[in-house]
Amino acid sequence: MKNSLMLVLSILVLSACGEQKQQSAVAMPDAFSADVAKQIMQDGGNAVDAAIAAQFVLAVTLPEAGNIGGGGFMLVYKDQQADFIDYREQAPLAAHRDMYLDEQGNVVPYQSVIGILSSGVPGTVAGMWLAHEKYGTLPWKDLVEPAVKLAADGFVMSEKLAGYISRYSQHLKDNKFAVNFDDYFASAKTGDVFRQPELAATLALIRDQGRDGFYKGKTAKIIANFMAHHQGLISEDDLAQYEAKSRQPISAKWREYQVLTSPPPSSGGIAIIQWLTMYDQLTAGKAKLEHNSAPYVHVLAEAGKRVFADRAEYLGDPDFIKVPVAELINPDYIAKRGADISMDRISVTELIKPGLKESEETTHFSIVDKWGNAVSNTTTINLGFGSGVVVEGAGFLLNDEMDDFSAKPGVANVFGAVGGEANEIQPKKRMLSSMTPTIVLKDGKVSVVTGSPGGTTIISSVYTSILNTLEFGMSAQEAVDAPRFHHQLLPKDTIRYHQGLTPDVVSALKKMGYIMDNSRFGDLHTIVDRDGKLEAGSESSGRGKSIVF
Ligand code: GLY
Repeated sequence: MKNSLMLVLSILVLSACGEQKQQSAVAMPDAFSADVAKQIMQDGGNAVDAAIAAQFVLAVTLPEAGNIGGGGFMLVYKDQQADFIDYREQAPLAAHRDMYLDEQGNVVPYQSVIGILSSGVPGTVAGMWLAHEKYGTLPWKDLVEPAVKLAADGFVMSEKLAGYISRYSQHLKDNKFAVNFDDYFASAKTGDVFRQPELAATLALIRDQGRDGFYKGKTAKIIANFMAHHQGLISEDDLAQYEAKSRQPISAKWREYQVLTSPPPSSGGIAIIQWLTMYDQLTAGKAKLEHNSAPYVHVLAEAGKRVFADRAEYLGDPDFIKVPVAELINPDYIAKRGADISMDRISVTELIKPGLKESEETTHFSIVDKWGNAVSNTTTINLGFGSGVVVEGAGFLLNDEMDDFSAKPGVANVFGAVGGEANEIQPKKRMLSSMTPTIVLKDGKVSVVTGSPGGTTIISSVYTSILNTLEFGMSAQEAVDAPRFHHQLLPKDTIRYHQGLTPDVVSALKKMGYIMDNSRFGDLHTIVDRDGKLEAGSESSGRGKSIVF
């Protein structure tokens, strides 16, 4: 009797423990960050601790986009509360509206994407510090240490990264704005151990002094002196004044889900809510469109035209302009925007006006911890390897985020996005972004955590990952690998698409008048909760790694 009572009690205790111990998952852009994020959570850290450690690791092992010299957005869902940490770069105090125009008023090619003048004031270290102050549980130094070690001891250079470095180095050859990329990266060879001693020393200062290890003291002086030496703009004042901000995420109902996503200065959150809502409105009461069929691509391309017309006119830094977020995501407004879409005809690009009266890089990771908290984090130095400028003595690459401002009204930036007054350069202003870290909730619980790099194409990668998982029931891996497409108003009637759309679909779309541009974009990292079981997917074409444990 006593024995059987003990057995029942043990079973009860074990099953209770089983219920408490939920799975965790990471979907990361490389194996180094995936392994460190997993280890941090196995050491008792939460999703935010893992995200901070991963962010610093990526600054070492994914130099084309991981960074301490750039910025990003971290969407946190913790203890049923959502928060959005905006650590986007800012224009330097000495920046001005016409800084990329020549004497004739034309945009100077390359100046906002390569070299010393292309960088905004970095926000990453301040962002991680704020995230840690608000949500971290493990000591800060334990979260930075893995990155210090990888920079000091080195890591084995993969063929993909070595190839990428070599192509970028070729791209900089003979460019008059290039500064010193080869001095730091020319030695990177496949299979060799790649060490970054200056970066290790900078990371050690950040580990030991926190935020001040970057924005004050030795590192700040190195940055400011380097800038002054090369006629750059970022000063010690710029660094001392930089602040990461906690903002209210956009929260919108879509079907039975609550979508938590990125507010301005991201354009992505408004865009994906418009896109998903317009898709439902245009297909309501009709037979479900076949995934990646010509009508499916067309209807979403038409929605995209309108989304990007609004982006160009209304969106910018909310600390400088009033962004009409509520109006732009109002379902009635979105219905009006989609009212003239024909299922068989392309609309005339020039007639699509804003309705109320915008090699890509960046990188993303998604994390869910055993308590059901989630982090969706997208971080960037803009194009691959940012400005191509390494801060000498501090060993990190600076961003070329200034190109995300509108250099001149109506002139497209490197992503083909146009903009006007809302996104013109002003000192301390944050440039408009397309980064769209997103978390979809169902009944208050995490259902999908997703995000991607890719400039303006980020928005399409994110909303299609939501449709793929929730509308088409794909697994996380299928959803990130399914061929996808992107349309953004300009260039006119052009659909960019991944290999894998069928030849019949491509020719049907061409017949409708679309110009079909086959070039891959994005690198989705998505976690899905499927009835209490986690799935994680990182795009097979990249260097990513996802783990459920
Ligand atoms: N630099 C890409 C973006 O923020 O949209």
